Amino acid sequence: MEASSFIRRLPKAELHLHLEGTVTAETLVELSQRHDGAPLDLAQARALYEYTDFTGFLMAFKAVSEHLHTAEDYEMITWRMLERLARQGVVHAEVFVSVGVVYYWRRCAFEPLFEGMERARARAEAELGISTYWIFDAVRHFGVEEAAPVFRKAAELRREFPSIIGIGIGGDERRMGAEPFRELYAEARDAGLRLTAHAGETTGPDNIWGALNIGAERLGHALSAIHDRELMELLAERQVPLEICVTSNLRTGCCARVEDHPLRLYFDAGLMVTLNSDDPALFHSDLVGEYDSAQRHFDFTDEHLRELAANSVEASFLPPERKVMLLRFIESLQ
Ligand code: ADE
Ligand code: ZN
Repeated sequence: MEASSFIRRLPKAELHLHLEGTVTAETLVELSQRHDGAPLDLAQARALYEYTDFTGFLMAFKAVSEHLHTAEDYEMITWRMLERLARQGVVHAEVFVSVGVVYYWRRCAFEPLFEGMERARARAEAELGISTYWIFDAVRHFGVEEAAPVFRKAAELRREFPSIIGIGIGGDERRMGAEPFRELYAEARDAGLRLTAHAGETTGPDNIWGALNIGAERLGHALSAIHDRELMELLAERQVPLEICVTSNLRTGCCARVEDHPLRLYFDAGLMVTLNSDDPALFHSDLVGEYDSAQRHFDFTDEHLRELAANSVEASFLPPERKVMLLRFIESLQ
C-alpha cells in the first residue's frame, strides 16, 4: 500500500541512518564491477543481504562495507542516499559512517574517502536543499583501543569540516557495553563533538543506563527501556531523544512482533521519540515506510506524525535558527 501524501510531504529529519546500510544490492553489483575480478551478479549480491538474526545482520553489514574502496565509491553511495532521502521529504540527515570498519578491516586512511562523501553532501545541499551531518561510528566490539582513533579523527577533521557533528558506538552491545568508552566520550565532548550511542537494542536496560552515564545525548533503539520504570521516568523527565527504528528491530529479530514494539508506549509515556530507518537497504525499507507503519500498526494520527517529525528536528544537532525554520515548515504543512 502507498504511503499517504501527507507523510511524503511532511518535512522530516533522519537521525539514525548508516551510510553503508543504504547501499542497495543493485549498487553493490556496480561496486563489484568496479573492483572485483569476478564481479557479483544481482542474485549473489542479494544473497549477501539475507540473514536470520542480529549476528547475521552485522555480518551482512560487514559484507556490504567490504565492497566500498575509493573516494568515488563513497561519493556515489552518499549521493544516492541523499537523493533517496530528499525524495521522501527528508530535509536534514545525521548519518553514521563506520570509520571503525575502515580502520579495523582495511587499515587505510579515511580522509580520501571522506572527501568523496563531502563532495556528495555539498552537492545535495546545493541541488536538493537537504542538510547533512556526519557521525563517526566506532564498532564497539572491536574494543576501546580501536575506537580511540575513530573519535580522534572526528575531532581532528571537524576543525576543517563542520559537517562532522558527533560520534557513536554501533556494533554488538552483547560483547561490549557503553561504560568502557567513558573516557573517550569525555574526550570527544571536550573536543566539541556531540555524543550518541546505540543502547538497549540487543541488551537490557543496564546498557541504556551505561550510555547515559557516559554522557550519550541521544540513544539509538533503546528497545529495552520499557522494562525499567525508573529509566522510563528519567527518559521522560530529561526528554532524552530516542532514535527508534521499528523495522530494523523486527528484521534483526531484536523485537519478535510489531505488536510487541514499545514505540506507542514510549510516545504515550511522554518520551522524546523519533522515527528512523537505520539500514534501509538491508531491511528493504525507508523512512516514509517507518512513518506509514507507525500510522498503520500503532494508530498514530497525522497530527501525531507531525509531532514525531517535529521531534526529529528538535532532537537533531542543528543550530537553533535552522530548527526554528524547519519547525515552522512542519507546523504549516496542510
Ligand atoms: N551497524 C549498523 N546498523 C547497526 C545496528 N542497528 N546496530 C548496531 N550496529 C549497527
Ligand atoms: Zn544503527
